[in-house]
Amino acid sequence: MRVTISELKQMKQKRERISMLTAYDYSTAKLLDESGVPLLLVGDSLGMVVLGYESTIPVTMDEMIHHTKAVVRGSKRAFVVGDMPFMTYHTSTTDALRNAARFIQEAGAQAVKLEGGVTVAQTVEKVVSCGIPVMGHIGLTPQSVNQLGGFKVQGRSLSAALGLVEDAKALEDAGAFAIVLETIPAPLARIITEQVSIPTIGIGAGPDCDGQVQVVHDMLGLFSDFVPKHAKQYAKLSDVIRSAAKEYVSEVAEGAFPTAKESSSMDQTLVDQLLAELDVQRAVRDFGVTG
Ligand code: KIV
Repeated sequence: MRVTISELKQMKQKRERISMLTAYDYSTAKLLDESGVPLLLVGDSLGMVVLGYESTIPVTMDEMIHHTKAVVRGSKRAFVVGDMPFMTYHTSTTDALRNAARFIQEAGAQAVKLEGGVTVAQTVEKVVSCGIPVMGHIGLTPQSVNQLGGFKVQGRSLSAALGLVEDAKALEDAGAFAIVLETIPAPLARIITEQVSIPTIGIGAGPDCDGQVQVVHDMLGLFSDFVPKHAKQYAKLSDVIRSAAKEYVSEVAEGAFPTAKESSSMDQTLVDQLLAELDVQRAVRDFGVTG
């Protein structure tokens, strides 16, 4: 049985902190699921850390569906959330419903996430009313990076902070089951967490959220372009991969890989028969000799 939204709500009530990690492929999802991560987000950060785009904006629905399917196949217990890409829920309610439904019906996710507060509350309400759980996302919303003027801390002024509290309440009222708070001051995240009854999941939002989310490539030290301030590297897999790849290249060059252990043997009689057969074929070709 997978984790449910009521279990997540109970975790907030019992003050049990919730951990969420992003995942984009079968093998990673399997490892994270086996490690007991209750929430897996197929984030549109996929665009940057897996596909090499400069931002999350170019990510398409088809890319998200492809990767969400793999994460669902790799996980058994985790609740899988699919991230709705840029402009897939703004053009009309019909588009939002159709795209949200693809995550559930086609990819097998349990919920969708979308960015925005008051401005998307009606859409959230509509999607939830169709039976699709929605996770909100406010603060630094990367799909609006051009509007926000860069990857900056949000909610620093009184009016901006009040706006974010209002956004969180609008999402709660619209039926969202949780809200990601990204890159906002820790005291503001604590206030929002106290003001809403649904779990808040922070990234760069301090320790007082109900849960935390990290991009798995940041957490494992796999993404080497830059390390965001909010990220903690629990491993440095980029070093491990580089050194393993260098060792492989030199072993191939030296003929030290593969050894008998990585190869399959063949009965010597069969090898001799094969060579003899090839000799006959060559003789026929070269001299027209027939047996
Ligand atoms: O796309 C993503 O990975 C996200 C998280 C940073 C919350 O939205």
